[in-house]
Amino acid sequence: MSTIRLRGARGRPTQPSGLGGPGEPGNSTILLTMPTVHIPVLAGELVGLLERAGIGSRPGQIAIDCTFGGGGHARLVAERLGPEGTLVAIDRDPEAEERFAELARELPCTVRFVRGDFADALGALAAEGVRADLAYFDLGMSSMQVDTRERGFSYSFEAPLDMRMDPSQELDAREILATWDARRLAGILREYGEERHAGAIARAVVARRAGEPIETTRELVEIINSAIPAPARFAGGHPAKRVFQALRIAVNDELGQLDAALRVIPEILAPGGRAALISFHSLEDRRVKWAFKTDPRLAVLTKKPVTATARELAVNPRARSAKLRVAERCPN
Ligand SMILES: C[S@@+](CC[C@H](N)C(=O)[O-])C[C@H]1O[C@@H](n2cnc3c(N)ncnc32)[C@H](O)[C@@H]1O
Repeated sequence: MSTIRLRGARGRPTQPSGLGGPGEPGNSTILLTMPTVHIPVLAGELVGLLERAGIGSRPGQIAIDCTFGGGGHARLVAERLGPEGTLVAIDRDPEAEERFAELARELPCTVRFVRGDFADALGALAAEGVRADLAYFDLGMSSMQVDTRERGFSYSFEAPLDMRMDPSQELDAREILATWDARRLAGILREYGEERHAGAIARAVVARRAGEPIETTRELVEIINSAIPAPARFAGGHPAKRVFQALRIAVNDELGQLDAALRVIPEILAPGGRAALISFHSLEDRRVKWAFKTDPRLAVLTKKPVTATARELAVNPRARSAKLRVAERCPN
């Protein structure tokens, strides 16, 4: 886990070395590899809840953005923290770190970036003695990740089967498809993708790789199409959607990470501090709901999850399945 601390006069951060300042070659790379703007989901709801909780009402507050991504939520929260507040941003993706270096110059508060898994990063921050007034998560992948074709997150682009949020991690989607047995493959497709044809697809993967390695997203889409009955190819969205979701969750151990982070949340929050999580499928939401409900150090503030308005859905279809839950750290 690498940590960059950025502190400058009046909260204006300094540029870390090697990330490319304005006009430097590094920036053109950022533009080429990150063409998409990530529209933050449930941003108004998140900020509204936090304002009601007094975030931004006192100087010196600390907020932790555990999934920095393109920094959409971070920008809004930083504006509320003001010059005396501190925003700590976490992400495992080096491209998010580059984005942070760009955005940090514009943020009005003290800022700091921690690259790594959010569960580890929160544990390290808690061990340092950091106690946050707010820690929030916007789970899953960013639009920049899905739209950077060579990263292999999307079934719409021909690309190597990668799907790692952290490119230094060893396990990628190609490795899973090359080495996991049919039972284990079918298990993740069923559990993480709710794929009805999990068994048939897993068997087709194993049969294909006996002849030649499966290397690209297009090859995987062909295998999926060949394994499922013809009517299923035309019903319920793209036939590869659920398989790609399942592989991505497995590659990035998304649920293991979430469980570990939920255990650290009560330790990283100051008394009265709030945790807010935006999740995108029932596997995540169930975990958040359960962890909030069963931890005696937390009081649940959202009996029902907050969901997107019709207005937000009209401009951001990604918000369709988003659910926001908030809990407050009880006084010691
Ligand atoms: C949905 S995006 C966040 C978008 C951000 N809220 C915005 O407004 O731009 C999720 C981000 O979290 C990161 N991420 C997902 N799981 C992570 C984990 N376990 N540890 C650290 N970062 C993670 C991804 O790399 C991605 O950049």
